[in-house]
Amino acid sequence: MKPINIEEATILIVDDNHTNLKVLCNSISDSGWEILVATDGKSAIEQAEYAQPDLILLDVMMPGIDGYQTCQELKKNPLTEDIPVIFLTALSDKFDKVQGLLVGGVDYITKPFQTEEVLARLHVHLKLRFLTKQLELQNQQLEKRIEERTTELSQTLNELKQSQLHLIQQEKLSTLGQLVASVAHELNNPLSFLTGNLDFTTSYVYNLINHLQLYRQHYPNPVVDIVKNAKVIDLENLIQDIPDVISSMNLGIERISHISSSLRTFSRTDISHKVPADIHEGINSTLVILQHRLKSNNKRPAIEVIKKYGDLPLIECYPGQINQVFMNIIANSIDAFDEDVKEDFHANSSNKIIIQTTFNEDNEWVIISFKDNSIGIDQEVQKHIFEQFFTTKMIGKGTGLGLSISKEIVDVKHHGKLSCFSVLGEGTEFVIEIPVK
Ligand SMILES: Nc1ncnc2c1ncn2[C@@H]1O[C@H](COP(=O)(O)OP(=O)(O)OP(=O)(O)O)[C@@H](O)[C@H]1O
Ligand SMILES: [Mg+2]
Repeated sequence: MKPINIEEATILIVDDNHTNLKVLCNSISDSGWEILVATDGKSAIEQAEYAQPDLILLDVMMPGIDGYQTCQELKKNPLTEDIPVIFLTALSDKFDKVQGLLVGGVDYITKPFQTEEVLARLHVHLKLRFLTKQLELQNQQLEKRIEERTTELSQTLNELKQSQLHLIQQEKLSTLGQLVASVAHELNNPLSFLTGNLDFTTSYVYNLINHLQLYRQHYPNPVVDIVKNAKVIDLENLIQDIPDVISSMNLGIERISHISSSLRTFSRTDISHKVPADIHEGINSTLVILQHRLKSNNKRPAIEVIKKYGDLPLIECYPGQINQVFMNIIANSIDAFDEDVKEDFHANSSNKIIIQTTFNEDNEWVIISFKDNSIGIDQEVQKHIFEQFFTTKMIGKGTGLGLSISKEIVDVKHHGKLSCFSVLGEGTEFVIEIPVK
């Protein structure tokens, strides 16, 4: 929209009478306005559309389409609708003021013209038009500024939300990671002296037994007290049992060190850059940590984990964060099984989580799928599961952050894709796709 300047206004005069046109042109020629003329309604409409005058002086009585009709047409056209129209009428004409205003005219001037009156009315209406245009222009600018500010604000809000998520994620990750790491560390000391001392104990015990056998060889007839005591302690069985006892102790120690190394694998949160990592190792260590939750409880049977691992290369990633994603997804499945309490304990005796990994050699992407056969997620809930703080769990049970954090880790930090497929009553599958490099 061009701003208008009253001094440089353009005025279209429409009259079929050449004398009238001449008189009018003479009256306003000194004002400096640009003057256009038309002698009938049709050409006036065309010219108005093309030249966009700032005001139109329009004769009422004309051959062809008359002034009212011409005005009506001008008002219908979006290009000319807001150009003010002043009717020109002779005293002898039967000018209908009401109709003139109804079809969109703003004023009328009666012939014969008085120059001062014509100029005064033109000034008033040009000024009105000027102010209206100015107002519209300012409105537009204001709207544009509001729009810009709104975009800026919503951008800032988004950034704020993102950084809040980062903070929470860091916090959650580091709290869990530190806890797990410190437990692993605390386990290490007692574990190492258990391992070391068990070796000694084993050789001490066998030495003692050998020594005892030697004693028996050389003193086959011990005193009564020794015979009695051998019976009390069931010496023969004790000697036979010892190897089993020692090997089960060794097994226990092996199990503890496996757990401890899984804890350390899981909690690799200290790594601040991407490193090549073994995804299967990560999943396994996560399963070790969640082991106690997979077991049967008083409401449901154990959850069977079926691993269908493919041949995967090492993946460039933040292992601590990726493990966190595995943890969130598997924990959600376990939560779903915990909620899926049936009247008949055995009705859901086939609780399963199938973990499948594949490598797409064409585009070098790794696909990791976690599929459970629990309650599933209904369509409406599915739309929101990746939103921050969205949870269907009771207060205190879920914060609604697990999946939003996971999505951020997979999609943003690893340029991958985390998606969910679920059918209510059948189960849920989460698929992680990450590029190898
Ligand atoms: N395997 C699943 N089966 C059924 N519902 C699921 C499953 N995984 C996620 N959901 C739904 O998605 C919601 C959001 O999960 P998300 O992990 O983000 O939060 P949460 O588990 O509720 O809380 P937390 O922050 O403790 O993880 C859950 O509340 C649950 O309704
Ligand atoms: Mg969760």
